[in-house]
Parts: sequence; structure tokens; C-alpha cells
Amino acid sequence: MASTGDQPVIEMEGVTVTFGDHVALQDVTLRVMPGQFVAVLGPNGAGKTTFLRVILGLIRPVKGYVRVFGRPATALGEARARIGYVPQFSQADPRFPVTAWDVVLMGRYGRIGLGRRPGPEDYRAVQEAMEWVGVWSWRHVPFGKLSGGQRQRVLIARALVNNPDLLLLDEPTAGVDVNATHTVYTLLRRLHEQGLTIVVVSHDVGVVASYVDTIACVNKRLVAHGRPQEVLGSAELRAMYGCDVAFFHHGPTPHIVVAPEPPESDGGTEH
Ligand SMILES: Nc1ncnc2c1ncn2[C@@H]1O[C@H](COP(=O)(O)OP(=O)(O)OP(=O)(O)O)[C@@H](O)[C@H]1O
Ligand SMILES: [Mg+2]
Repeated sequence: MASTGDQPVIEMEGVTVTFGDHVALQDVTLRVMPGQFVAVLGPNGAGKTTFLRVILGLIRPVKGYVRVFGRPATALGEARARIGYVPQFSQADPRFPVTAWDVVLMGRYGRIGLGRRPGPEDYRAVQEAMEWVGVWSWRHVPFGKLSGGQRQRVLIARALVNNPDLLLLDEPTAGVDVNATHTVYTLLRRLHEQGLTIVVVSHDVGVVASYVDTIACVNKRLVAHGRPQEVLGSAELRAMYGCDVAFFHHGPTPHIVVAPEPPESDGGTEH
């Protein structure tokens, strides 16, 4: 799964994205190197999903450029299959009777090609990915009947079914309880240990910091970028969330505490 050499997997240079008059991303410059595990943090509407869609080549910046595997993101061609993607809000309609197995097989469609039938190689890849993630036993279960956390794991299996070199996940633990969240991040950590390059968008500031090696705080601009210890507790992050973020070590894992904003505004007029 490891990518080749020291060439960045993702290279963004001065990327600006607009939707009509609205600026969603502004002048974002960032590199992701092979094997890096990056968390993208930021408030709602900060441009995090847009950031992933730019990497996928689904949105073309009005300024700057994005290269993935050394090629323009909008002209990846077959290399697009080297990116696994877990999109945000993967709702399941219980009336649409697909099994967990069907959902993972869908991850092969880009490779199989429209109109062609899946073959033994595709079935093998589906089983391998589902076994690896630990969801093979649910293969016959209708996707809509799975819990939120179970669905996310099936969607991770789908994103892994082409054995990608880059995994992008958009809030994979939104609405998922603490235990299931740690199950998902433990899976991601195992992938990271195998050398996979991972970018995960998250709101779980406290959880991601103990798993990832890099944090990128996005609020239209890249407001902070670096190792968790450097970024968390920084003035930039405080400004971004409007609250105090403390960082401390407890045993081998760092913990984060997000304190609410003090009720009185500081620096205001004196009474
Ligand atoms: N296709 C689009 N057309 C118009 N505006 C869009 C489009 N996609 C995103 N936007 C706008 O761009 C901004 C950034 O959206 P984006 O979805 O990237 O935010 P986000 O950080 O992922 O937010 P959230 O945490 O709520 O998922 C928002 O103001 C959004 O309304
Ligand atoms: Mg989003």
C-alpha cells in the first residue's frame, strides 16, 4: 500500500475555491507525504469537505493547483482508483434493499466498468476487505439495518476494496458512540502502521489527537498545521473554535480537553 519515494502524495499550492461569491477555501498550501496520517479539523462550513473534493478532482480551484500522486487532481484518470473515499453523511434508505456485501462491491464498480459483471477477483477483493475490517459476518445484513458505527465500518471496507494508496474519510465517526469511534480509529491506525496515507476530517478533536501524526486546522484558510502537540493549544485553534483547548499527557496517549468559552468577554470595557 505504501507509495513510492519521497514525492508528496498530495500537493496543494495556493488553492482557492469559490462557489459564486462565496469563498470556501482561500490560499491553502499543504503537502501530505507518503504514510502521513492527517486529521483535518475545523468548524461547520469551514471548507473541510470541499478540501477533500478538491483532492478527488471533483472541484476545480479558481486559483492554485492540486497534485495527487504527482498528477493534476482533475486529470487523475485511472489513478483515481488509488484513492479510497468515505464520504460524509452516508445515509441508508432502509427501503433500498442492499446488503453490506453489495455496498462493498460497489467500491469495485469504477474498476469493473459500467455494464460489465463482477468476476471472481472482485468477489475475492470484497471478502478480503470485509474480513480485514471485521464486517464479513454482516455480509447478508441489509445496509439500512446496521447501526451507524457498523455502517461506517462497512463504508471503510468499501473504500479499501481497491487496495488504495490514499484514504480520505469525511467525518467517519459523526453520530457514532465513543466505543465505535475508537474501533474506527484503531482500524485507521492499523492501516497507518501498514504505510497507508490517510486524511480524515473530524470534529472529535480529543480523539484524533491520540491517533494522527499531523493536524491541519482549516477555516477557509489553513490556520494551523503541524504535529498535534504543536497545533492543539495554539492561539489559532482557540480562535477557530472560540474556546480554550488544553493538551496534556496522561500515560502514553495525549488527551485534549475543550473548555467552554468564559462567560465574560476579556479585554472589553471596564464597568
Ligand atoms: N456545491 C456547492 N455549492 C455552493 N456552495 C457550496 C457547495 N459546497 C460547499 N459550499 C459552501 O462552501 C462552504 C464550505 O462547505 P463544506 O461542505 O466544505 O464545509 P465543511 O467544513 O465540510 O462543513 P461541515 O462541518 O458542516 O461538514 C459552505 O459555506 C458551503 O455552504
Ligand atoms: Mg463537511
